[in-house]
Amino acid sequence: MPVTSQQPSGFFEIAREPSSITFEAFSESYLIPEKPVVIEGVGNDWLARQRWTESYLRERLAQESSASAASLWYWMDRDTLNEDYSTPEFVSQCLDASSTFPRNQHNRIWVNKKEDMSSWHYDGGIVNVFNVQVKGRKEWFLVSPDTPLDCYPFTNFCIIDGKSDDERFADKIHTRFFLNEGDMVYIPPVWFHKVISCEEENINLNWLFTKKATTATSATLKREVERYMINDYLTKHRFRWVRQFAQQFNRHAPGYMRIIWRYDKPIETPYQISTWGLLARFAKELGRLGKTILHANKIKPYTKTLSTPKRLKKNT
Ligand SMILES: [Fe+2]
Repeated sequence: MPVTSQQPSGFFEIAREPSSITFEAFSESYLIPEKPVVIEGVGNDWLARQRWTESYLRERLAQESSASAASLWYWMDRDTLNEDYSTPEFVSQCLDASSTFPRNQHNRIWVNKKEDMSSWHYDGGIVNVFNVQVKGRKEWFLVSPDTPLDCYPFTNFCIIDGKSDDERFADKIHTRFFLNEGDMVYIPPVWFHKVISCEEENINLNWLFTKKATTATSATLKREVERYMINDYLTKHRFRWVRQFAQQFNRHAPGYMRIIWRYDKPIETPYQISTWGLLARFAKELGRLGKTILHANKIKPYTKTLSTPKRLKKNT
């Protein structure tokens, strides 16, 4: 049975499950209702816990044609390095389900130093994420998409406004917990999160996937769907200059400002979104420019804390 309690607002203890959980049980309690959970001991027996260091990973991934580096993590396919770890059965079933969009590069590897910290954000692409703590330990903070945080206009990154987390959490459904070595957290789509690395060496393996349909009705999911619809409208606009502007913006803007939907169909949601709804979203996003400008000076100290962007010297 999941050990959890969730109030209309306020703190809740994250649910915890054993690694023997079945796909059916995981689906019913977490995947369909989109609730986070820690699944304990998933990586306890993995060779990765002994083998993985950043230099080992860089050497191995450099030999893999499918592996690449993003700014903060490494991408790889599901079958890369899998002599070092095993994919739990319920994870494979999520990735392979007919209700999941097919994709390449299901896996990310994060390597972080002590005190590396992400800023508050939710992941783009309406992704579901399984995140295993292969080495080290991280502190996680999650806020429900039902009680959203303010984001920079049209992005999924929250405005850095100098508030403490206690002030931020005052009226939010939230949880915080430590993810210990060998354990895995499931982050459902559009849950806000901030993560702090606690040990000298912290390595995480992720699997990502996007469901073709969701029954979720959170304010953040609606915003996310509208964000993609506005982007789709602009990139296919009948005026060439509008199309070119939108395409160039997405090509050259920093990663956190781009809007990327990698699938050929939109996700099915319970929302009926009208043109008026999209115009209202557009106006609402522009309305956040005031708060963005007001707190612009608080971004710089955060950017100084970011790790050096990842690179791979490919051998091939
Ligand atoms: Fe994230």
